[in-house]
Amino acid sequence: MTSIALIVAAGKGLRTGLNTPKQYTEIAGKTILRRAIDAFLAHPEIETVCVVIGKDDVPHYNEVVTGLDLLPPVFGGATRQESVRNGLESLTDLAPDFVLIHDAARPFISRELISRCLSKLTQAEAVLPSLSMTDSLKSFEGELITGALNREEIVAAQTPQAFAYASILAAHRTFSGESLTDDTALAERAGIEVAMVEGDPANFKITTPEDIEKARSVIIKSLTDIRTGFGFDVHAFEAGNSVWLGGVNIPHDKRLKGHSDADVALHALTDALLGAISAGDIGTHFPPSEAQWKGAASDRFLRHAANLIGGKGGVINHVDLTIICEAPRIGPHRTAMRARIAEILDISEDRVNLKGTTTEKLGFTGRGEGIAAQAIATVRLPE
Ligand code: CTP
Ligand code: MG
Repeated sequence: MTSIALIVAAGKGLRTGLNTPKQYTEIAGKTILRRAIDAFLAHPEIETVCVVIGKDDVPHYNEVVTGLDLLPPVFGGATRQESVRNGLESLTDLAPDFVLIHDAARPFISRELISRCLSKLTQAEAVLPSLSMTDSLKSFEGELITGALNREEIVAAQTPQAFAYASILAAHRTFSGESLTDDTALAERAGIEVAMVEGDPANFKITTPEDIEKARSVIIKSLTDIRTGFGFDVHAFEAGNSVWLGGVNIPHDKRLKGHSDADVALHALTDALLGAISAGDIGTHFPPSEAQWKGAASDRFLRHAANLIGGKGGVINHVDLTIICEAPRIGPHRTAMRARIAEILDISEDRVNLKGTTTEKLGFTGRGEGIAAQAIATVRLPE
């Protein structure tokens, strides 16, 4: 028996108010669409995945599925129903026994729910994961309540909805002229019995901006492996007229000597982030012996470390830096540095702290021979 997951992702996500469709929103280094795809790919009984996408979303889609072995994407239509139909039509050559039709906007689909849908397909041609109602249900007109509905007779429908492939394809073809709410509605219209399985409250659909925040909070809370990394760096002064510090260029009567732009603060911070994920140090990733890093802007190094954390499905929780020198004075530039670091790391400014201190004219920093920086970073990773 072959089962294919058909993920519909051709909507525009207008209700989120975002510029790009919601399924391409990245949370903790992974898009909503990729989370849905990964859940199906990880299921041993799912052969493969086909995604239905918007015509304008090809570059986004290609980025999301880099490195994955999926069926070619299919273009969707103006409605969800059309998108599903296009997807089903694309599978005629493969003719799987079963198809699980899922909304890309539900990234929290569990292995257990997929299994429940599949096992019910041995008894029914169509399967709907449903949730019973806990609140009382009312009908209304305008601002007035007109009556009560019996919640015992009502369930909320989720996806994936699972079907015998030939049956749901036939239903979509027959009723393409009618607009129906979802695929089980089409199945019913075609006289196919739809069986219910228990849905999953965690498998909610992302629809509004609040849902995106809720999804973010669910994902961040699941990152329970909390790591700390420390970084330290020193650069000496040489003749010049400005220094790069914390990603900001500051006029000064000297400059910092180094292979790259010598931004000692960003180097310490990069090492702290690499330390938190046990990924060595800046020199292992960007060897000073390589000519390509000569004069390089250090925001590249920092972004690289942040990307490695994102690649592990983690997030940067907080970073704190201390810049140690007599001059230039850090205070006047602190706000700009903090903003720039937050921008490079793509985190909010309240997750970045930056301090300047002197060594009371003692030691090499006290004598104005160079600048030292220390950084500490806290990251959250999946277990
Ligand atoms: N969908 C689709 N093709 C469409 C419309 C919707 O493939 N023409 C998909 C969406 O991408 C989503 C799922 O159907 O994964 C459920 O639709 P919905 O939550 O309404 O998403 P959007 O239509 O994208 O959002 P909105 O209605 O707010 O614009
Ligand atoms: Mg919609």
